[in-house]
Amino acid sequence: MSLKSEIERRRTFAIISHPDAGKTTLTEKLLLFGGAIHIAGAVKSNKIKKTATSDFMEIERQRGISVATSVMGFDYRDVKINILDTPGHKDFAEDTYRTLSAADSVIVVIDVAKGVEPQTEKLVEVCKMRKTPIIVFINKLDREGKDAFELLDEIEQKLDLKVKPLSWPIGMGHNFKGVYNLFEKKLFLYSKLDKQTIEEPKEIKDLASPEFDKFLGNSANKMREELELVETVYPKFEKGRYINSEIVPVFFGSALNNFGVKELLDCFLDIAPSPLPRHTDIRDISPYEDRFTGFVFKIHANMDPNHRDRIAFIKICSGIFKRNTNYLHTRLGKNLKFSSPTAFMAQKKSVIDEAYPGDIVGIHDTGNFKIGDTLSEGEKIQFKGIPSFSPEIFKYIENADPMKSKQLNKGIDQLMDEGVAQLFTRSFNGRKIIGTVGALQFEVIEYRLKHEYGATSRYESGDFYKACWITGDVKELKELKIKKYRAMATDKHGRDVYLAESPYSLQMVQENYKKLQFHFKSEF
Ligand code: G4P
Repeated sequence: MSLKSEIERRRTFAIISHPDAGKTTLTEKLLLFGGAIHIAGAVKSNKIKKTATSDFMEIERQRGISVATSVMGFDYRDVKINILDTPGHKDFAEDTYRTLSAADSVIVVIDVAKGVEPQTEKLVEVCKMRKTPIIVFINKLDREGKDAFELLDEIEQKLDLKVKPLSWPIGMGHNFKGVYNLFEKKLFLYSKLDKQTIEEPKEIKDLASPEFDKFLGNSANKMREELELVETVYPKFEKGRYINSEIVPVFFGSALNNFGVKELLDCFLDIAPSPLPRHTDIRDISPYEDRFTGFVFKIHANMDPNHRDRIAFIKICSGIFKRNTNYLHTRLGKNLKFSSPTAFMAQKKSVIDEAYPGDIVGIHDTGNFKIGDTLSEGEKIQFKGIPSFSPEIFKYIENADPMKSKQLNKGIDQLMDEGVAQLFTRSFNGRKIIGTVGALQFEVIEYRLKHEYGATSRYESGDFYKACWITGDVKELKELKIKKYRAMATDKHGRDVYLAESPYSLQMVQENYKKLQFHFKSEF
């Protein structure tokens, strides 16, 4: 198969949701349809949410699972599907944001009763920032929930997205009868199926047909009116507008009951983009270019404390990645080759000889990689779009065992490379501050420093509101550094960071230093 057809048959995407909306269930059902698993319940979800936050053994167990479920590849209808798993727990949102950098599109799952939830908003914001095409799946139609029109309004308002329903629910909860597929113009009737099996839904092609009345009884005419309204209220579906993330197709169903999942998958394969061009610091890279390029979006440390090796997950962006071939690590300026790159098919890891744009390969790493690192066939480029976000919780990290300061520094360094959290160093006293998006990370860091590096650490509260990166006028920056020296820090790369104590102090410096830019993500 040519490079072109290999690229065109790939769909690499992530499923995202607020916890409990049904992301894991939908992932599992897609794997079931794709034949990648044979029974429901086989996907051990990568979620820490239901456990006590301090249950470290559970965290370790989950870390193990998350290697296995990081990427789930399978073939369906001649299409190579790669589902990127994202952690469900909100404290790991930063991990999810990074994984989204490797996705060519996303499916957002929304609970019909709960509608748009806080985590949905945050995740969609990140997708919009990168212009990632989005499909929405409204789940749990077998339960009572919000009215479909109301829900679509909510999505438009809260997420600022333009929606286009491609399926429409007929009733819900006890009265859920099925969905009308506006994309294929077919009616699919719901029957509560055995959750383990996949059954072809019944199908009616013509809305005007008496069969429609036969199945829907009294509600047939109401449904016809509603569908007419849907066709007039919402814009026509155009694939190009979806790919440009100007319009969001919406599907309804019940993942748990296998309902609406096949339609979603079939339509997804038809409309979702194959790998798209990617931005670098120098130029855009088309996946169709002959020369290989890729970037690291995730690093997973070995669970065994005796082996400090890690797996770096690389998204292939162009050309063909080959085993045992020298590639340039553009940040280090050195050539590396990989003898056992692994691919993830149907939850199994296997060594591969080649991989194509859209694919994810796992590479054994002994400390060469950081999140965002680029590999190429020689060109000195750096892929963009993998920023760190301004953290929300800050703590000073102190060494609790003076004999182990080397181990502590090494541990902190490596955990930061993995992207577990962000490190800032206060300029006036050199104290180290860890910044995260969730409280759980602090426990993970302390635990891993102890168990993997033999270092004992202790935290002291760091009362900051935000860290932002600063660029702009040299003179103003110099002045800020003198006047606000207590609020100045550097990030891991030595860049200037302002640690604001409150929204008010941030607003004040922004007003007083008009020639400076304050960035809330590390890429600007
Ligand atoms: P998440 O990954 O987004 O966090 O959600 P997950 O799939 O784990 O689903 C959360 C809960 O919602 C699960 O129930 C799951 O069975 C249920 N669920 C998912 N899809 C549907 C659906 O279409 N209809 C209904 N009624 N429920 C659905 P749980 O009791 O929390 O977990 P479990 O014990 O069933 O695993």
